[in-house]
Formats: sequence, C-alpha cells, structure tokens
Amino acid sequence: MSLAHRRILLGVSGGIAAYKSCELVRRLRDLGAEVRVVMTGSATHFVGAATFQALSGQPVRTSLWDEQAEAAMGHIELARWAERILIAPATADVIARLAQGHADDLITTLCLASAAPLYLAPAMNQQMWAHPAVQANLATLRRHGATVLGPAAGEQACGDVGSGRMLEPLELRDALVASFGHGELAGLKVVVSAGPTFEDIDPVRFIGNRSSGKMGFAVAAAAAAAGAQVTLVAGPVSLATPQGVMQRIDVRSAAQMQVAVLEACAQADIYVGAAAVGDYRPVCVAGQKLKKQAGADLVLQLAENPDILASLSAQSKRPFLVGFAAETHDVANYARGKLERKGLDMIAANQVGEGLGFETADNALTLYWHGGEAELPRTDKATLARQLVTHVAERYKVARA
Ligand code: PMT
Repeated sequence: MSLAHRRILLGVSGGIAAYKSCELVRRLRDLGAEVRVVMTGSATHFVGAATFQALSGQPVRTSLWDEQAEAAMGHIELARWAERILIAPATADVIARLAQGHADDLITTLCLASAAPLYLAPAMNQQMWAHPAVQANLATLRRHGATVLGPAAGEQACGDVGSGRMLEPLELRDALVASFGHGELAGLKVVVSAGPTFEDIDPVRFIGNRSSGKMGFAVAAAAAAAGAQVTLVAGPVSLATPQGVMQRIDVRSAAQMQVAVLEACAQADIYVGAAAVGDYRPVCVAGQKLKKQAGADLVLQLAENPDILASLSAQSKRPFLVGFAAETHDVANYARGKLERKGLDMIAANQVGEGLGFETADNALTLYWHGGEAELPRTDKATLARQLVTHVAERYKVARA
C-alpha cells in the first residue's frame, strides 16, 4: 500500500474529532503522501495549527487573508496542487456551506477552486446527523460528485449513542489509497444492496423474508478489497459494516431502499442488487395494532413495489447493472428472463430453499450475461463474492471498452 508523492489537502473543520485528524496526517505520511492542512477558525479551538504543522512538516493555513502564506503558495495554486481534498472532520456547518457553493473561508474557496475529487468525513452529534437539512446538503454534494466517508455509529464525545462518529484515521487513509487505485475495481464507485426489506402491516407486524444480508455484505467487502469505493444500502440486518466500505445506508422498506439506491447510483459505475427486495407491500399500514377478529379470516391487500433494478435500467445514464435471481426451481430460465426483462448486464442466479441461499454461510451461483455464463460452485459467501467481483470487473471492462 503506498501513497508515495500523492498530494493530499486535508481540511479540518471545528469538531472534537479534529484530534483524530492529527493521527490521520501521520498515517498518510507513513505511506509517503505529501499532506497540507487547512483549518477553519473554529478547528483551531480544538487543535492548534502548530500540531498539524509539526505532523505534516508543512505550514498550516487558517485564513484566506494571510499575506505571507499567499505569497508562498496562493490559494489557487494550493487548489491546483491537491490531487485529493479530504475534509475531516466535516461539520454540519462546512457541509452546508459547501452544498450552497459558498466561498467564505479558505476551505470552501479551495473546494470550489479545485478540480480534485472531494471526500467528506462527517462528524457530528447523532441528532444533527439525522436532521433532514444535513442529509439534503449531503445529497446535493453527492450529486456534485463528492464522496461521503462514513460516519460510523457508536458512543459520541457528547455522551449520545448513534451515527455521527468520524471514521477512524486508518479507514480514511484506506479510502484515499483506494481512490488512487489498485485492484480490479480500482477507482470505481460501486453500490451494493443487501438484506431483506420489511413492509409494515401495523406498528408490530411486517412482511419480510429470510435474507440475512450475508451474501450482499460479502459482495460489498469483496468490492472494497478490489479497490472500489463502496456504498452499501442495507435492509434490516444485524451485521457489522465490512472493512473498507465507505458508506452504509440503513433502510427498512423497498420504497426506502429504492430512494437510497437511486441516489447513491447517480454517481456510481456499478450496482449489485443482492438485496431480497419485497415485491409487495400492504396497501394500508394500520396506525394501531390490528386486533384479532375471532372466527374471521383477515384479508390483506397488497400493492406492487417499484422494481429498483428496472428503474435504474430505464435511466439514460445508468451504472453497470448486476442483479441476483433467487429461485426455487427452473433457475436458469427464470434468471435469463430477469436478465432480459430488467435490462441487466449480468445476473447471479442462486437456488434457494431447503438450506440453500438464504441465511446460510455458503452458496453457489451461476452467472449469466449476454453471450456467456459461468458456474461458481458451492463455497463460503466471502470466497464466492470475490469470484463474482472478478467476473463483474471483467464484464464491466468489456462493456465500457
Ligand atoms: O442475504 P443472504 O441470507 O445471504 O441470502 C442471499 C440471497 C439469497 C438473498 C441473495 O443471494 C439473493 O439471491 N438476492 C436476491 C434475492 C431476490 O430478491 O431475488 P429476486 O429474484 O426476487 O429479484 C431479482 C433481482 O431484482 C434482485 O437483484 C433484486 O435485488 C432485484 N429487485 C427485486 C424486487 C424489486 N422490487 N426490486 C429489485 O431491484
């Protein structure tokens, strides 16, 4: 793993996670990167500029109006110098200003003035993270091509527990390493869906399925190990986020999964739909627990859910599409049918039922694409996912050639 001579501009905004960015500078330099640090005024309340100066071996800039610094390396020169810009921590405030296109301090000005890919490592209180304004700003930045790294969930400096912790320095470093590329999917953005969807009937009941998420999580891990920047859209499962996955979006229903996948895929090169998306949902979700009517049958009216893969394939600019087909019988015929009907580039078919496919630790797949197929015999899901990723990388290259 190397970042030799790579030029990384680290923007530090004002959050307690700024202390982790000191470690990040060391880890980036361990791999040979040149790091220049720019801080917002509020960041300097958390960590002194002298600390970053000592760790980066370069002058640290905190203002647009520093004449001496401008004379040494003007801000436009600095913007051109950067091969990657990483804002870590990225506070709600800097995210909002970037989303609005402000240029009211050095960091925001540099981001506007640079053609370098922008990476954001959000860090904030869980309530702030969940606020629709923050999420809307991030959605805008993603549409503009920024990559959001994390955040992680867990205990926060303020004592709350939830999403909003900045990723660890080594995870951020690995993300930057991956962005420069090594591995079969180096430099590509891959979105993977995994797990089941739950369609609520009332506050205590839902329609779900047996997907554990293991297959999709293994695909996300394999894609990250192959150098991709992976966004994992997960249905309700109890699995830890695989190492190297840049972003995880947890959803519950098919409708929520569709929104998350479509948004993530706006910038993606490849989408792998390993999720077992519910085909139907109750027409009405009862606000209160449905009471048993003794002696009477209960009829549940279901409406068809949107097909996520088909909606992606209908778009004019769409990622390379890999679907899964879970079938109990006549696997090849149904899988080929879905490949055509959903407008996919590849489909991974698995036989399910009787201890196969769902919930199990291992699986077997047959891959179909236009003009070819490949058999991946039964093995553990991690190995199978690596084999699948190799085939996806090959077919992707052929398709884009
Ligand atoms: O999670 P595990 O326990 O490890 O189990 C793995 C698995 C069996 C769930 C996985 O290997 C698998 O087969 N996933 C797809 C299951 C499925 O929903 O298959 P399907 O044949 O019903 O759907 C075909 C494809 O269309 C899938 O890629 C699915 O994500 C997609 N789809 C389906 C419905 C819908 N509304 N939108 C979709 O995009």
